[in-house]
Amino acid sequence: SDRYSLLILPGDGIGAEVMAQVTRVIDWFATNRGMSFDVSEDLVGGAAYDKHGTPLADETMAKAQQVDAVLLGAVGGPKYDVLDFSVKPERGLLRLRKEMDLFANLRPAQCFDALADFSSLKRDIVAGLDILIVRELTSGVYFGEPRGIHSDDNNPENEGGRVGINTQRYTSGEIRRVARSAFELAKRRGNKVCSMEKANVMESGILWREEVQWVHDNEYPEVELSHMYADNGAMQLVRNPRQFDVIVTDNLFGDLLSDAAAMLTGSLGMLPSASLGAVMENGRPKAMYEPVHGSAPDIAGQGKANPIACILSFAMALRYSFDQGSAAAELEAAVEKVLADGVRTADLMGPDGGTPVSTSGMGDAILAALDAGR
Ligand code: NAD
Ligand code: IPM
Ligand code: MN
Repeated sequence: SDRYSLLILPGDGIGAEVMAQVTRVIDWFATNRGMSFDVSEDLVGGAAYDKHGTPLADETMAKAQQVDAVLLGAVGGPKYDVLDFSVKPERGLLRLRKEMDLFANLRPAQCFDALADFSSLKRDIVAGLDILIVRELTSGVYFGEPRGIHSDDNNPENEGGRVGINTQRYTSGEIRRVARSAFELAKRRGNKVCSMEKANVMESGILWREEVQWVHDNEYPEVELSHMYADNGAMQLVRNPRQFDVIVTDNLFGDLLSDAAAMLTGSLGMLPSASLGAVMENGRPKAMYEPVHGSAPDIAGQGKANPIACILSFAMALRYSFDQGSAAAELEAAVEKVLADGVRTADLMGPDGGTPVSTSGMGDAILAALDAGR
């Protein structure tokens, strides 16, 4: 049978807590579905800084380049806020994305029926929601040059005398490749792509719109394409989110829009993601799987975190890295069943009362649901 190599990077805060539940799920698939996983674990973020003085050691980076898939928990925390920018935990995550060239970040937002009353929006607006945000992940204002904080001494009008600079920069090639990912994914779903930028105020937005249109016209004319200004897109996501199928957008807009989309599903603790790069010689894409949420310092260490986002990220690994679509569906169905049974971590406690469980209690319930379906 196939062997899959995995590098697990739990990171900081609730990262380790949710990843512990994923490890149990991995073991379940190894035992019950005849898959073999080569799992190694390493440090990222503040945890790596504490040991190595850097949020990502070179050896860890090298390992990440060699495995079939990286699973990442979360990075960051108040303890590290005082650190120099270059060694902040978040730099470790950004380095992984950049050096692995993971340009397409798939962030699905699905509203499970059992949670439709938990969204901050009304049930009839979110019930049945199933959208996919494709966020460009290796360029844009996150990485553009010039950047930095400089003194602005020659400008006496500037109170404080400093200037902070980041640059939004996109090449046509960077836009075309992520647009291709979005069109390919749309073909396997609702066949509709909405591209979001601010072509009304940004030249990079004009280029974005033109290049996405070019890829459409030349390669995917059968997919329905529309364009929207990203501010309107944010409003439409809250007004009528089911009008969308696939949304393709840049790094920063994608970051904001996907957090907003999280609330449509009931909790940020529900949203998984896949960060994919080019397909390698073995036919598998360079890949990292990470929940959309962060290290949640406010609840870390208390057994309160919802592990579903991280578990569903592993389901995405089964689907996109290992071509195990039916195993992915099996895991997703187990999550759906547990939610339908009213099993609830604290973030999901809502109108129906439900059965409150801890992080590991949610893991127990999902494993039990997998067992029941076996
Ligand atoms: P956050 O996502 O960590 O938390 C936002 C809110 O959502 C908090 O109230 C938190 O308790 C809640 N929450 C998040 N995940 C949850 C889960 N699984 N279960 C239950 N509740 C959950 O965002 P933040 O507070 O803005 O950032 C905290 C730290 O995390 C910062 O250092 C930030 O840079 C970092 N961060 C990391 C990632 C990542 O590693 N991918 C993503 C976002 C933020
Ligand atoms: C995310 C996070 C990251 C981002 C941070 C932690 C670097 O917010 O994955 O959404 O801004 O991309
Ligand atoms: Mn974010």
